[in-house]
Amino acid sequence: MQQRMEDVKKAADSIATACPEAPKTALILGSGLGDWVEEGSIRLRIPYADIPGFPVSTVKGHAGALLLADVQGTPVFVLSGRFHLYEGYDAGTVTMPVRVLGLLGVTTLIATNAAGALHPLFATGGLMVLTDHINMTGHNPLTGPNIEAWGPRFPDMSQVYCPALREKAMQAALRCGQRLEQGVYVAVAGPSLETPAETRMLRILGADAVGMSTVPEAIVARHMGMRVLGISCLTNKNLPDCMAPTSHEEILDQAGRSAAALGALLRALIPNLGG
Ligand code: HPA
Repeated sequence: MQQRMEDVKKAADSIATACPEAPKTALILGSGLGDWVEEGSIRLRIPYADIPGFPVSTVKGHAGALLLADVQGTPVFVLSGRFHLYEGYDAGTVTMPVRVLGLLGVTTLIATNAAGALHPLFATGGLMVLTDHINMTGHNPLTGPNIEAWGPRFPDMSQVYCPALREKAMQAALRCGQRLEQGVYVAVAGPSLETPAETRMLRILGADAVGMSTVPEAIVARHMGMRVLGISCLTNKNLPDCMAPTSHEEILDQAGRSAAALGALLRALIPNLGG
């Protein structure tokens, strides 16, 4: 734990040196969802490998760099590439970048992901704003000694995803003519995709979309008192009675196709997030 605290601090200090005016908003871009960030809008790019103490991403579709980007005139940190439990990282390592953002003074976190649609009426290629989550990963990033300076031992999770931010996202979707579903995201550890019986179970449990990320990050962000918005890009339909075989390549391809819609939504939203 001591080591983790030191790594987080070291990483935050090195980023703060490169970027003395840290933005208050950060964006995590999930699998294949980074393409909409225009090269010209990137003010600073720090490869994860150059940040002391930062883990290194191993998955295809995850570039692995912290960006300082300008979205319609608003500066944001962008974590382009994230870490997953299925890569073998523990939950503390998966969420280490969020801790670093917290120490840098980020107060609003927008976490995006690729997810399978469990709701039968949600379409492939659609977007869903998270109303709540179910943690089925079997891990919690807050296990172990609590660091009081970071947050409380037993943080409240009655409202993980900020209703005001959700409302702003719905308004932004209206402005850009983008349909935006609302629903519950369930996180599983992966990397295997769900069987029909697992898909049926997740739906019965109340989930509308399933993926392998976001929940550990959202828990840590709430632990640190950040406002959180979650957005899923629905890359495939995951329905128990008509399961189609799905591959990671297809998920990435579909994420790439959804990136434009996600980008349009975020461009409409980010300048209007408020404090
Ligand atoms: N299941 C789990 N994770 C996913 C899926 C899915 O169907 N689609 C994208 N990520």
